[in-house]
Amino acid sequence: MPRVKIAAGNWKMNGLAGSVSELDALIAGAAGGAEVVICPPATLIAAFAARARDSRVAIGGQDCHAAASGAHTGDLSAEMLADAGASHVIVGHSERRADHGESDAAVRAKAEAAWRAGLVAIICVGETESSRDAGDTLGVVGRQLRGSVPGGATAANTVIAYEPVWAIGTGRTPTLAEIAEVHDFMRADLASRFGTGAADGFRLLYGGSVKPTNAAEIFAVGNVDGGLVGGASLKAGDFLPIVAAAS
Ligand code: 13P
Repeated sequence: MPRVKIAAGNWKMNGLAGSVSELDALIAGAAGGAEVVICPPATLIAAFAARARDSRVAIGGQDCHAAASGAHTGDLSAEMLADAGASHVIVGHSERRADHGESDAAVRAKAEAAWRAGLVAIICVGETESSRDAGDTLGVVGRQLRGSVPGGATAANTVIAYEPVWAIGTGRTPTLAEIAEVHDFMRADLASRFGTGAADGFRLLYGGSVKPTNAAEIFAVGNVDGGLVGGASLKAGDFLPIVAAAS
């Protein structure tokens, strides 16, 4: 079965109540067959989910704690995200790995927490510039995949995003051949763990400086099943052409 592409927006620490107008424009304008997910800051999840109900736009969180509840000041559980109306959650974003020291084991636990709450986990991997320069891109991505993607992963409960750290927010992207190399490698690595049939179903997103101008060529690369988009997801005018490119 052909994989349905996903256009996912990660708003990071951006967006106030007034930003709902961008969501409204996205809901009104999204056409085509791609799945669309917006991950606003947690403060907006409930309002966005209410607004997006019965639309084609799904709402996700940007992180979750591994536990369902407890003494973890400032954290949010996957159950809370689901309760607020989220259907997805990003785990292991490089900004979480760097800013909060999240290990592969921590990311794996968060992915399992997402499933426990009925959420789809969007698990992020990607090398730093120094790892790429050292020729260790596939080594890093392979270690993160094996460490961060739990054994219970299926195409239905998990999406994987390849986000080279050096391409995030920089306007720089790998060449299409470099993207293809990593995505082919990820598909093969998943096949070695889960079997070819199961691995074929996983959506593998590319993230890092995806723009309206480069989305179509990136999404046309084999084994690229859409994108995880930061800056260009904040305005419907930028994100709608990216949604169209994924359709
Ligand atoms: P940019 O699209 O702003 O480079 O961010 C990518 C990203 O980190 C999405 O999670």
